[in-house]
Amino acid sequence: MSSYQVVRSKIAKTKVLLTEPWLARFVPETKLFSSENLKAMLAKFNEVYVKPDRGRRGERVIAISVLPDGSYQIKHENAENTVEKIANAVNFVKKIAGNDQFIVQRGITMLCVDESPFDLRVNVQKPYAKWIVSSMIAKKQAPGKIVTNYSQGGILLEFEEALKLAGLEKSQVSKIKKLLTNIGERTARVLNEKYPGLRELGLDIALDKMSHKPWILEVNTKPQYPKGLSDKFDRYRRIIKQKNG
Ligand SMILES: Nc1ncnc2c1ncn2[C@@H]1O[C@H](COP(=O)(O)OP(=O)(O)O)[C@@H](O)[C@H]1O
Ligand SMILES: [Mg+2]
Repeated sequence: MSSYQVVRSKIAKTKVLLTEPWLARFVPETKLFSSENLKAMLAKFNEVYVKPDRGRRGERVIAISVLPDGSYQIKHENAENTVEKIANAVNFVKKIAGNDQFIVQRGITMLCVDESPFDLRVNVQKPYAKWIVSSMIAKKQAPGKIVTNYSQGGILLEFEEALKLAGLEKSQVSKIKKLLTNIGERTARVLNEKYPGLRELGLDIALDKMSHKPWILEVNTKPQYPKGLSDKFDRYRRIIKQKNG
């Protein structure tokens, strides 16, 4: 039985990443959900994502954006509705959140394949003493969804294939791959200083549609490796070979 450390709070992990200036630039602004913070974030960004601090599998994720006429568009699961007042948006979130802590994060307009946004899963592991990026994969939103999670119908694509289909040149792809590798390894080292029991991480990283800048949406400390994938995803399934303590 492995007994690796698991850290569930997204905001706690975000705070640790922000202590590393080089990494901080890839962390989208994130606050605890409150009426004031939602207001402040929507005054600053056109779109925000509101999600449970301890969420998983893309559950209870809400996207809120400001429309040109000043009303607010709320997307959740397959539904979309518009409200006039921010108080209505606050109430919508409160209904879904119940007693659970939610967070508000700057929304990232993600790079697309066939008009469907996708993000990347960067797996980082520490089989021995050093953290290494073991695989990267792309996850494309299923039609009508606002999340890319495999458990929500997200479609898996090979990393290079996805970026190529998104229109990137080979040289751009290898540059991004290098950058994501650095981000993965740095993230692991910084988090591991604070949480010594970590052995394995899965970063969800979005690429900005226009600039291709990477944004760390979250860091999973207990990443799932989907079962039953075709052979072309063999590399993705590479897992820790040796337990280390
Ligand atoms: N700030 C954001 N901007 C754009 N999309 C987001 C943002 N946050 C989350 N998402 C989408 O929702 C998915 C689930 O969010 P995530 O933070 O990874 O939580 P979970 O633990 O539920 O996987 C992401 O993979 C991404 O597709
Ligand atoms: Mg995720």
